[in-house]
Amino acid sequence: MNKVSFIGLGVMGFPMAGHLQNSGYQVTVYNRTAKKAQDWLEQFGGAMAATPAEAAKDSDIVFICVGNDDDLRQVTLGPDGVFSGVKANAIVVDHTTASATVARELAQKANEMGIGFLDAPVSGGEAGAVNGQLTVMVGGEQNHYAIVESTMQAYAKFSKLLGPVGSGQLAKMMNQICIAGVVQGLAEALHFGQNAGLDCMQVVEVISQGAAGSWQMDNRHKTMLNNEYDFGFAVDWMRKDLDIALTEAKNNGSTLPLTALVDQFYADVQKNGGNRWDTSSLLTRL
Ligand SMILES: NC(=O)c1ccc[n+]([C@@H]2O[C@H](COP(=O)([O-])OP(=O)(O)OC[C@H]3O[C@@H](n4cnc5c(N)ncnc54)[C@H](OP(=O)(O)O)[C@@H]3O)[C@@H](O)[C@H]2O)c1
Repeated sequence: MNKVSFIGLGVMGFPMAGHLQNSGYQVTVYNRTAKKAQDWLEQFGGAMAATPAEAAKDSDIVFICVGNDDDLRQVTLGPDGVFSGVKANAIVVDHTTASATVARELAQKANEMGIGFLDAPVSGGEAGAVNGQLTVMVGGEQNHYAIVESTMQAYAKFSKLLGPVGSGQLAKMMNQICIAGVVQGLAEALHFGQNAGLDCMQVVEVISQGAAGSWQMDNRHKTMLNNEYDFGFAVDWMRKDLDIALTEAKNNGSTLPLTALVDQFYADVQKNGGNRWDTSSLLTRL
């Protein structure tokens, strides 16, 4: 399992593929914008390919991390896609945050071709990817997971198989549902504290030690209070993820009133020009 490929060298994929190369794997990368693949080669070595099919050709494991369902279909099922080049018995691991529906669709296609498919969205953001500290939520078959688990440790601090294909994406939806509510709560508390004339930095120093503490509070309160949002996980990406979760909720009969409301709040942030702002920018509309 020494030859692997990585499709999609974005904010997440670029450092993830780098960790693989630094861990001793022979990595072939593909990126739609070739310049990024050249930059990656300059930094890490390895090889680059002109198409996803070519990148996948000799690989035992093909990792993918692109934007959404449509991008994923394009790099897998498209004319020069991974599935037209990949060898038998290889395993395709998709790290894109996408729908459970596309994961099931690709797993079926992979099964027909005698290859493995795992949906494996990640959490931990750009910093987690750069530091090799991501968490990975995986759906698929145990025998496929057992083969790739140790390789993913190159960039992950924790990964777990959570059920059949699609389970990784469903788990990531739970992750995003949790985050939406927590960030809105944090934004409201800081808004309230500012209007009450409190020193919110000092208040957070205290309340973050108790039951109100959260990753968002620890990592975002300073920048929120300084009105800094030009970094982090973009509002556009969050709306994509919440749309996926709300669609799935309709299908499985879940009621997500808070998630639906926060999604609309993010639409307000987009209207105010915040498409690329970090998700903590919910405070700006208050
Ligand atoms: N950023 C985060 O903090 C974070 C955290 C957890 C999960 N995620 C998820 O991880 C995925 C990637 O996020 P990211 O931040 O790395 O995004 P990004 O920086 O925008 O990178 C997206 C990558 O996908 C490629 N791509 C997009 N559409 C494509 C297509 N149709 N054909 C071929 N390549 C295509 C892009 O190629 P080009 O370079 O040519 O545009 C780029 O390499 C998303 O699903 C996101 O929701 C992101």
